[in-house]
Amino acid sequence: MNRIFSGVQPTGNLHLGNYLGAIRNWVKLQKDYECIFCIVDLHALTLPQDPAELRESTREVAAAYLAAGIDEKRTIIFNQSMVGAHVELAWLLSCLTPLGWLNRMTQFKEKAGKERDLAGLGLYAYPVLMAADILVYKATHVPVGEDQKQHLELARDIAGAFNRHYNCDCFPLPEPQIFGTAARVMSLRDGTRKMSKSDVSDYSRINLMDDADLIARKFRRAKTDPERLPLSPEGFQARPEAENLIGIYSALAEISPEQALERFAGQNFSVLKEELSELAITVIGAVGAEMRRLLSDPSHIDKVLKNGAERAAAIAFPILREAQEICGLLRP
Ligand code: AMP
Ligand code: TRP
Repeated sequence: MNRIFSGVQPTGNLHLGNYLGAIRNWVKLQKDYECIFCIVDLHALTLPQDPAELRESTREVAAAYLAAGIDEKRTIIFNQSMVGAHVELAWLLSCLTPLGWLNRMTQFKEKAGKERDLAGLGLYAYPVLMAADILVYKATHVPVGEDQKQHLELARDIAGAFNRHYNCDCFPLPEPQIFGTAARVMSLRDGTRKMSKSDVSDYSRINLMDDADLIARKFRRAKTDPERLPLSPEGFQARPEAENLIGIYSALAEISPEQALERFAGQNFSVLKEELSELAITVIGAVGAEMRRLLSDPSHIDKVLKNGAERAAAIAFPILREAQEICGLLRP
């Protein structure tokens, strides 16, 4: 049986990268798979959070899922801390995860910065909790952006380690699903860095709740180079900003980058930026407006999350019990 699990952290602003690289793809998957989409609030705590903002952001991510077209009747939407089985399984898995595997995680190195000794244990152990998120549902597929590839490979390694150690086939090895050109949307200010919630420059990303004027202004100010757009994808060499804008256009228009390039080949960036703004305002504007409408009634969102958590728990706890049994934990 195929089952999909994925999640987004409720930190800062949801942006175009989250939408094109992750959430939008999930909507289509609901037709063919049983899907579970989580708001990973425990992961958010790996870095300092303001409690009121964390609550607000949790509802905001839920609103984004719903506004993008995730159907809460068919699909499970919930926040991670509501289902304790994630953390309980994470402990069992952490006992089988060698430190050497965690030492390789590039995201920890980026987030911990130079003062490695001051970083929290949670930030370091985060990929084990992420593995537990997936394995506690025996999920077979995990749709994410490219930046999560390394964490997913680790989740596969951890699943394998458990199965080998206990000589069982409890956990399927989860397959990453990384879709198309928008799997890595880059910053509008620097084409060599990914668009990120934590970038201090507001002009580096399009947020899902930006209004039309702001979206247009951000694209107009997006960094480009002095040349015209290239005639073919080979012309992108050492032109990351050009490649990124064409990538975003093709993802929004749902055409290939080659088709997008055909349309703008040899033109000034201003022509591309103009059309990009229009397209983004149509697509993102609609999602943002629906998010605002949903957020005006937090009690509805809370109801969706509570219902989702009950359904998630009904799947997760029996799988946790199975793992506990395998480990030899007595449950009289
Ligand atoms: P996060 O913002 O780290 O919680 O990421 C949530 C989801 O969005 C994950 O599947 C990420 O891989 C994806 N994502 C985050 N940033 C980007 C980006 N710049 N381009 C494409 N996907 C992204
Ligand atoms: N680590 C992911 C991110 O930062 C979020 C996440 C947590 C996740 N648990 C997950 C994604 C399980 C997929 C599956 O984007």
